[in-house]
Amino acid sequence: MSEIRIRYSTPLRGEIIPPPDKSISHRAVILSSLAEGTSVIRNFLFAEDPVSTVNAFRQMGAEIKIEGQGTRGRGQETKIIINGKGLSGLSAPEAEIDCGNSGTTMRLLCGVLSGQPFSATLKGDASLTRRPMKRVMEPLSLMGAAFKSENGYPPLTVTGGYLQPIHYQSPVASAQVKSSVLLAGLYCDGVTSVTEPERSRDHTERMLKAAGAHLAVDNLTVSVKGRATLKPSDIIVPNDFSSAAFFMTAGILVPGSEILIKNVGINPTRTGLLEILRSMGAEISLENEREVSGEPVADIHVRHTPLKGIEVSGDMVPKTIDEFPILCVAAALAQGHTKITGAKELRVKESDRITTMSNALKKMGISVEELEDGLIIEGRERLKPATIQSCGDHRIAMSMAIAGLRADGETTVLDTDCIKTSFPGFMELLETLQK
Ligand code: S3P
Repeated sequence: MSEIRIRYSTPLRGEIIPPPDKSISHRAVILSSLAEGTSVIRNFLFAEDPVSTVNAFRQMGAEIKIEGQGTRGRGQETKIIINGKGLSGLSAPEAEIDCGNSGTTMRLLCGVLSGQPFSATLKGDASLTRRPMKRVMEPLSLMGAAFKSENGYPPLTVTGGYLQPIHYQSPVASAQVKSSVLLAGLYCDGVTSVTEPERSRDHTERMLKAAGAHLAVDNLTVSVKGRATLKPSDIIVPNDFSSAAFFMTAGILVPGSEILIKNVGINPTRTGLLEILRSMGAEISLENEREVSGEPVADIHVRHTPLKGIEVSGDMVPKTIDEFPILCVAAALAQGHTKITGAKELRVKESDRITTMSNALKKMGISVEELEDGLIIEGRERLKPATIQSCGDHRIAMSMAIAGLRADGETTVLDTDCIKTSFPGFMELLETLQK
């Protein structure tokens, strides 16, 4: 099991290209596999999570070719070419589908599998096996799919069927739940809709619309009319805001730093951290704003600035959902206290991110109060070096490595193999900024 050792940093300076967007990479593979015709995906994220989605669709007969620099290639020279099978062209997998660590793979696949005339079993690693699947099983069962599982946790078997459209009032703001129901809705005669308590990321909606699905958005309700033929597309995946977030925050926290982070997706359903850091006093500018494959993109310029504590709640939570671990690190080094509430969802991520972050920051000398749905963090000038358990959670591992850049001495982050699920080459990229 690997670990990261990190020390108080010299200024971070330079330009970086973060990895491609994970959420968009998953969706590009799914919708291209369900389209009729050949799609090309450029700048796909070759990390373990989206590769689990590629493998799943290959197991169901989608023809997926990787051209260019090989499977580990980065950038737009590596292409994925998918010969879509149409909505009803997938075949039953011969073996169980392994979703690895990826909740997005498992939950979105549940939606697709609900519309198939066959059964498939989905399994995952130890972390995914602890994550709740009832949130998709419930609406998909109402539509007519059948599930077998141990109390709503993986592994689970989905048996597709003739689906009825539903109007689903989701109890959680979750793009995975919303996307899963919308994907199943493609197989219904009629209109399926999902209403969320707050808006979650909208990549599925943007991509479905571009593929020619009849999709409508009315405030917090998204509806799709089933049975449309999906068109293939040529997609360039923007770089991942959630991965850029570690470097944005590092650039703000480490004295003397100035970083330009290139070609980053700035979809407003994802950029809560940017708004929050600005409200905490950070200097962040967006340059070269443009649109790429239906998604807003920009270069993000950050420089070191002292921060002050803030309160975060309500509709900021889903827009920041994957950035709370790194936001907690920013809060630990801000002046005054930061209070995060309304973020109970953090308890069911790759780890219980409320408890994991609370334990990690306490080890580094920070006073933290754990709430049922968030945390209160009292900021300090510097952190104490410590040995930190990542609990196998990629975003905790990277966040605590960034925390180590402001600790007096050597910090060790344990169990860091998980970083490969979303950000292969994370430490190497950080080191390019320290030269
Ligand atoms: C994702 C949605 C979010 C997010 C996850 C990726 C997606 O999960 O935390 O990392 O790609 O749809 P929830 O839908 O559970 O909020």
